[in-house]
Amino acid sequence: MFQSIIKDMPHILHGGDYNPDQWLDMPEVLKEDVRLMKLAGINVVSIGIFAWKALEPEEGVYTLEWLDELFDRLEANGIGAFLATPSGARPAWMDKNHPEVLRMNSDRVRNLHGERHNHCYTAPYYREKTAQMNKMLAERYGKRKALKLWHISNEYGGECHCPLCQNAFREWLKNRYHNDIHELNSRWWTRFWSHEFSDFDEIESPCPHGEMEIHGLNIDWMRFVTYQTTEFMKNEIKPLKEITPDIPVTTNLMGTYPGFDQWYLSKYIDVVSWDSYPDWHNDYESFADTAAKTAFIHDLNRSLKHKPFLLMESTPSQVNWQRVCKLKRPGVHELASIQAVAHGSDSVQYFQWRKGRGASEKFHGAVVDHYGKEDTRVFREVAKLGENLKKLDSIVGTFPQTEVAVIYDWENRWAVDNLQGLNDRRNYEQTCKKHHRAFWNMGISTDVNDMTQEMTGYKLVVAPMLYMLRPETAERIKEYIYNGGNVVFTYCTGNVDETDKCFTGGFPGNGLMEAAGIWAEEIDPLYDTDINQIQIKEEYAKYFKNTSYKCRDFCEIIHAKEGTEVIACYGDDFYKGMPAVTKHQYGKGCCYYIATRTEDDFLEEFYHSLVKTIGILTPPVKEMKKGLSITRRCSEDKEYLFFMNYSEGVQEVELEDSVMDCSPISLINKEMMTQTLHFGKYEYDIIEIQKKS
Ligand code: GLA
Ligand code: ZN
Repeated sequence: MFQSIIKDMPHILHGGDYNPDQWLDMPEVLKEDVRLMKLAGINVVSIGIFAWKALEPEEGVYTLEWLDELFDRLEANGIGAFLATPSGARPAWMDKNHPEVLRMNSDRVRNLHGERHNHCYTAPYYREKTAQMNKMLAERYGKRKALKLWHISNEYGGECHCPLCQNAFREWLKNRYHNDIHELNSRWWTRFWSHEFSDFDEIESPCPHGEMEIHGLNIDWMRFVTYQTTEFMKNEIKPLKEITPDIPVTTNLMGTYPGFDQWYLSKYIDVVSWDSYPDWHNDYESFADTAAKTAFIHDLNRSLKHKPFLLMESTPSQVNWQRVCKLKRPGVHELASIQAVAHGSDSVQYFQWRKGRGASEKFHGAVVDHYGKEDTRVFREVAKLGENLKKLDSIVGTFPQTEVAVIYDWENRWAVDNLQGLNDRRNYEQTCKKHHRAFWNMGISTDVNDMTQEMTGYKLVVAPMLYMLRPETAERIKEYIYNGGNVVFTYCTGNVDETDKCFTGGFPGNGLMEAAGIWAEEIDPLYDTDINQIQIKEEYAKYFKNTSYKCRDFCEIIHAKEGTEVIACYGDDFYKGMPAVTKHQYGKGCCYYIATRTEDDFLEEFYHSLVKTIGILTPPVKEMKKGLSITRRCSEDKEYLFFMNYSEGVQEVELEDSVMDCSPISLINKEMMTQTLHFGKYEYDIIEIQKKS
């Protein structure tokens, strides 16, 4: 069960994007790279990501000797390879000879050659060409010892609005709506503004100078973009699986990138990987805030397959594209890398190994600077981390046991983004992160799922702003609660169906009202400066530190049905005294409803009391400390507790007495732990404890 996701590599992987194709005329650099990689503890590199021109300089002419030699060099030095398919960028000859591969923007203007990540994902030529290129790579390198993983393309994303894609979209719609234009019209509510279609050939992709107001069209377009991107990727993977069925495939994802549904695409890869670039040390939030937001995305990536994932890219220091590309302060690189591992990554990989000399990424952080040697701060920090990662073999393949899931759903996000009206502070993603944060603060490992995932098995499911309810979702949620599950909903729940059409008969719709025990009649959006409060009812006062809490942005006016308990009421405005937070027993389970956007303290205390009531596992420490994050990975007989200090000062935490009987030992310095642990700023430790049988 707890096996490495990469065969024959039972280590935490440490490496990054390596572009020797930019240095082919400097063989001494290529040799030096290997020496430096060994010093930095690098055991795997991602190669060939943007190497199409180096592989096929002219149509049908291949130069693969440099890649043969690279494989030789890596193998001679025991370094593994993630071989990329080069579809992320095209050589100029291809765009000249086959302009239909150039992407067309929503304004219907075709790109010129240049940049990257800008192909048409429908064009038959590019599909054939990538399949042929990938087949050749698999035939030539499939049996090489160094080959560990296929890195499919790079950061798929964007959309193409060319005529080929328009046709493909119409075909996709015909399939979805059973070739029945009336069904589509009804699902999209197109009688609005006389926008009803008579034929599928009248439909165009959404664009600013055309149609953007049919929300069903917008949502279906995003579904199509997801589908077509995935089809393009599947076409890339097919020859690889035929020739190298045992080599797993991944593609590097981009956090919560909204452009396609990562849940859908991930079904077709073996291993999830993502590129993480948090803006540490920014001027608008605390260091711990940045850490908590990053934790959410790590949790999401682990949840995509409920297996360990790979941190495919991160920067050893700064990036080249943030507003201020701040240096990572000493120690932060190691802490941020361990954070990925703490949440389930089996790798720490970089963009990039060596800084190129020209073009836009020449000042992007890298392990090897233009200076070229190992005596730099960044290199030393990477090498130190490399040494520590070598001590973590035993955690490879392990992952946390989770009892809580937060729902973050791509389609719901698109629907919330479509919504016109209310106010401009909908912030779906931030809202999900805030709820997740309450559990991060408590050291509770949390999955981040979409609404289609299995719920049984969790003790608590938190579904912030679940505005769209897909057909089967309401049923499943009800069943889950009825059988003993606990769910938390908020304002804006169950307003629209999967084509963004409002439910009739009251919100939350689709039958969910029965489980929620409330009816949401109206929603009052607030100005930024408006504040209301919620007042805790006396019988619940013992669970909270204060008697009232501020709320902003949205106050939904709800009615508690018979049998629903009111935890808090509004303190102000014409709905003063009406319920704001409720609890409804449904079957063996409970459904909570938070009708307004409360301040963080309320969420923290609310979830704290829920965790106690429900009996959710918390870390074995006497008291949690603010900014000291604790996560857990488990094997059959051991638990690994990660302690990471994201606060501004020293933190002291005391292990529970019971832990002291389980031989707690630090994986980093191999010492037995004392009961009280100290963590300086940016410090961390990983503690192995024996599970009690
Ligand atoms: C992305 C890309 C890389 C590089 C980095 C820079 O993650 O995949 O090729 O451009 O960004 O941060
Ligand atoms: Zn296209």
